[in-house]
This record gives sequence, structure tokens and C-alpha cells, in this order.
Amino acid sequence: MIDLRSDTVTKPSAAMLAAMASAEVGDDVYGEDPTVAELETEVAGLLGHEAALFTVTGSLANTLGVRALVAPGTEILCESSAHIARAEQGAHGVINGVTMRTWTAPRGQIDLGQIRGLIAPDVGPYFVTTAAVSVENTHNFGGGSIQSQTAYDQLADELSQRGVALHLDGARLWNASVATGVPVADYARRAQTVSVCLSKGLGAPIGSLVAGSAEFVKEARVWRKRLGAGWRQAGVLAAAGLYAVRHNVERLAEDHANARAIADLLADAVPGCLKPEDVETNIVVVDLTATGKSVAEVVAEAKAEGVLAGGVGATTLRLVTHLDISAEDCRRAAETIARICA
Ligand SMILES: Cc1ncc(COP(=O)(O)O)c(C=O)c1O
Repeated sequence: MIDLRSDTVTKPSAAMLAAMASAEVGDDVYGEDPTVAELETEVAGLLGHEAALFTVTGSLANTLGVRALVAPGTEILCESSAHIARAEQGAHGVINGVTMRTWTAPRGQIDLGQIRGLIAPDVGPYFVTTAAVSVENTHNFGGGSIQSQTAYDQLADELSQRGVALHLDGARLWNASVATGVPVADYARRAQTVSVCLSKGLGAPIGSLVAGSAEFVKEARVWRKRLGAGWRQAGVLAAAGLYAVRHNVERLAEDHANARAIADLLADAVPGCLKPEDVETNIVVVDLTATGKSVAEVVAEAKAEGVLAGGVGATTLRLVTHLDISAEDCRRAAETIARICA
């Protein structure tokens, strides 16, 4: 099977498993796991923040980051297909007690005009106050799109002038950085809280981090425990994370090239299904409208031919490249999908 459903499906490599097996561990709830501490310090440094906290998922990292910026009863703004809005099972409402309003923009981009129009200052008991804006980079359901650097910087400047906080959902910030050459810290420093994942393109079996000020991380550690997600000898997992950030970042460029090759082949074979230039990182979104086939049909037929793809919308299919997929796998997968859609 060539599994292109997500970059979360990777299996730890032999070298990563060896690093996990030899990890020094301790009880992290007591703050005694040296490998977890090393990972948190290293990633905080990479992101240009004072501190970071290792969490089981990106969703938990986002929940902790947003919780710190948005008091219950106030709101966070995000793009309407953002992961925090669509795919975290309402955690920000259920756990954080925050409300959300959204803007909608092609490929999940920042739209300054819409955001300016949405921001509601504190006007007393009439309207919900906007406490923060969340930006996702790269944007998952936007097709792995990279946020415009100019718009991001302008947004960060305007928010700081208006006293509105910024959360960065950087689950795939590594992909954005490798594609643009902009260091992850340059993106991350602009936000008060930032989440990053190790379990996506970087190939760790589990784990994310949320970074911010030392004070934020101290409180987030309490909240992580409160939510039942304190962990003990987590150094075996942190070792996989350290291996991932030290060995698997630069190679994301291969995943980006593989995704672009899939896009080029499909654009030629299935006219109108995508624009290759929209594929900036490791996610290819294919519009099946013109093929007359449903997402379910294409997914099932591809599976029968050894290719796993995922549906992300009524008419859209998603193919995600990752480190367990070769250029040859990608060529075969693209030819299979092209044949099915032709
Ligand atoms: C942009 C984005 N943020 C957050 C997450 C959440 O990560 P997790 O699945 O580890 O909770 C994902 C997962 O795909 C994602 O794509």
C-alpha cells in the first residue's frame, strides 16, 4: 500500500527506534525526565521562545496555547477551515470556554481586511471581546499552503498595537520554513503561543510542543496535568522527537518535490483538478468535480489498486507525501489516481 492519507502515518525508522531504546528517562510529572527536558529546551530555542512543553498531540498543544490567550467568554478569530475550528472536536469551546468567529479565504490565507472587520475591542457588556487571532502555517485544509510573510508580519504588528494576542498553529511550521528558507523562529517569535508537531512530516510516532513565555509554560504544565495528560517516563517519546528535529527537517524538501511531481502529473492527466503552483509543500488537494466521480468512489478504487488517499471535502481528495514514501511511490500513486479519474 502507498499510504498518502496523511503525513501522520509514518513508522519510526530503525535509527529513531534505537534513539528511543537508549533514552535516559525519569518521571516527567516530577520534572525528572532529562530527555523530555532536553527536547523542550531545544525546541524552545529553535522557536525563539523562553520555554516549551511536550504534549501528546498538536490538538492539546493548541488547546493549551489558546487557553492562555483567550479567557472564557471571549473569542478567538481564525480562518474557517483552520484545524482548531474544524478538527479539534470543539475543544476550544468545551475545555477553554472560548467562542470563535472565522474569516474565509482561498487556501486558508490571512485576509487582513476581513480580520480588521472582525476584531471587536472590549466595549463592555454588548459584544464578545476579541482576545486573539490564530494563524495556521502551513494550512492543512488549505492544501499545505504557506502564509504570506508580508501579511503575517503586518497582522502581528497590527495585533500588538491593538492588544490582541496571536496564536500560531505551526503543526507543519517546519514545512513552511523549509519551503521558504525563513527560520521557524522568525514565524514563531511573532506569536505569544505557538504549537509545533513532531508526529507529522518529521516522522516521530507521537508528540507536539507548545512554546511561549516561561510563565505560560509553567501554567500550561498545570493545565496539561489537569486534563489528564501529564506523563511519566516520556523520555522514550521525547528521544524520537529529538531525533526527528535533528534529522528529519531538511529532508522535508523531498516531500515537497514529491508532492509537486504528483501535482504536475495529475494536472496534465486530469485537466482542471488542481493548479500545480498551489502545491507549495507536502499536501496535494485534488478537485474531482470535473471527473464525474465521487470522493468515495475514487478513494475505494485507489485502495483496490494499492493507493490510500483521503477525502477532505465534498469533492476534494487529499494526498500527503511523507518520509515513508519515495518518488517512485508518488509516480505510481499519481498514475493510478489519474487512470481512475480519466
Ligand atoms: C494544522 C494542524 N494543527 C493541529 C493538528 C493536530 O494534531 P494532532 O493530530 O496531533 O492532535 C493537526 C493534525 O493534523 C493539523 O493539521
